[in-house]
Amino acid sequence: MVVQPNLKNMVAHKMKMGLILFVTCMFFLAPVHQAHLPSATISDLSLKNMDFAMNLYRKISSYHDKNIFFSPLSISTSFAALLMATGGVTREEILKGLNLEQLEQADQPELIPALFQLLRETITQNGSLKLDQGMALFSCQHFVIEKVFKDQIKTFFDADIKSVDFADTTGSISFINEYFKNKTLDKVAEMISNLDPLTQLMLINTIFFQGSWQKPFNPAFTENSPFYIDNYNIVQVPTMFLEDKFYSMEDVPLGAKVLKLPYQEGVSMLILLPNKDMDYNVIDDGITAKRFLSWIKNLQKIKLEVNMPKFKMEESYSLHNLLPDMGMASIFSNSANLTKLSKEEPLKVSEVLHKAVIEVDETGTTAAAVTVTGIIPYSLPRTFTVNRPFFFFIYHEATNCLLFMGRVIDPTKN
Ligand SMILES: *[C@@H]1O[C@H](CO)[C@@H](O)[C@H](O)[C@H]1NC(C)=O
Ligand SMILES: *[C@@H]1O[C@H](CO)[C@@H](O)[C@H](O)[C@H]1NC(C)=O
Ligand SMILES: *[C@@H]1O[C@H](CO)[C@@H](O)[C@H](O)[C@H]1NC(C)=O
Repeated sequence: MVVQPNLKNMVAHKMKMGLILFVTCMFFLAPVHQAHLPSATISDLSLKNMDFAMNLYRKISSYHDKNIFFSPLSISTSFAALLMATGGVTREEILKGLNLEQLEQADQPELIPALFQLLRETITQNGSLKLDQGMALFSCQHFVIEKVFKDQIKTFFDADIKSVDFADTTGSISFINEYFKNKTLDKVAEMISNLDPLTQLMLINTIFFQGSWQKPFNPAFTENSPFYIDNYNIVQVPTMFLEDKFYSMEDVPLGAKVLKLPYQEGVSMLILLPNKDMDYNVIDDGITAKRFLSWIKNLQKIKLEVNMPKFKMEESYSLHNLLPDMGMASIFSNSANLTKLSKEEPLKVSEVLHKAVIEVDETGTTAAAVTVTGIIPYSLPRTFTVNRPFFFFIYHEATNCLLFMGRVIDPTKN
């Protein structure tokens, strides 16, 4: 009877010790954590961007059954740039829509733009990564743009502000198209084809990615193979072939397999291939940031025979039609608060255009880089045959930042 309370005391004592230790550790950790704040929060930002990307993806896919390709990073970056111009409800909506509320610090108004800048620098510091981003804000020539805003978006986002006479629609269209033709080194000849003369502000961003596979496909093995769009539509597509060791996994509950195809520049493409009997529309709803991270974590190296279609996509999205459905309505409406952009008169954003281009082929460069892999007998490789609609994600490995996300329903459609 005397022992019991003693024991209890000891347990209580131990627990207290544990607690003290834990608290002490926290104190020790705190300064260290602070010193590493930027890189820690870049991952936070990547994760927030990824959630936003999946939401946006679902929104786009709810409108059509076609191919999809966009750059979540580029879209979040554009809106983070616009965020600098906003106040009040407009600002709150964007923070919430982009999933950035938790990163907002009232006493550090430049934290979010600085994080975006750091993320961009981290991704592009590997000199070989070819990721050409271009952003420009075209504003009606009558508006005097606040100098602070002009400086901020130049500093943090490397974005240009150009003054345009939107009333002269033909002149404006050719000015904007020329601007992007030059900026993208002729990769985009025609950015826009029509324009509302009442436009006040137009934000355009473009992004191009060119990567070289770590393990290039041998073009000699590429041949036309059937791609089953659905039960009734089959197209012939140039299909690449490669046998090697790859990181792969199966998401059994989702009903899909995952394959990682690494590029040379610290970036990888993750392919999500629904099982034969699975409807891709069902998979659509299961794609989340959490799930994506679990795929990456559970990849295992195995020997595989990969068959993969070549494809090329150029997709444009009018985000001013999509984002109001995601809670970002006020910036496009008469109640927009863009007081930090210009004091002049009530302003709103008329259009936000996004264009992303990708080309997936054997190597990205010449066939000379092709490594011929020896075929090892005895173990028959399993196959990963991408011959039906699939999803793909291009992400930066060190930060888990999702650069691109797409869905291929018909690889023969640009
Ligand atoms: C815009 O937002 C700022 C806060 O950032 C606020 O002071 C101002 O009153 C708002 N203006 C309008 C017109 O809503
Ligand atoms: C085209 O871009 C270059 C820099 O890439 C710049 O120096 C030049 O002024 C641009 N020309 C036009 C017409 O915008
Ligand atoms: C770029 O990334 C690749 C793959 O992670 C690495 O092998 C290469 O050394 C990096 N180059 C630079 C300049 O950081």
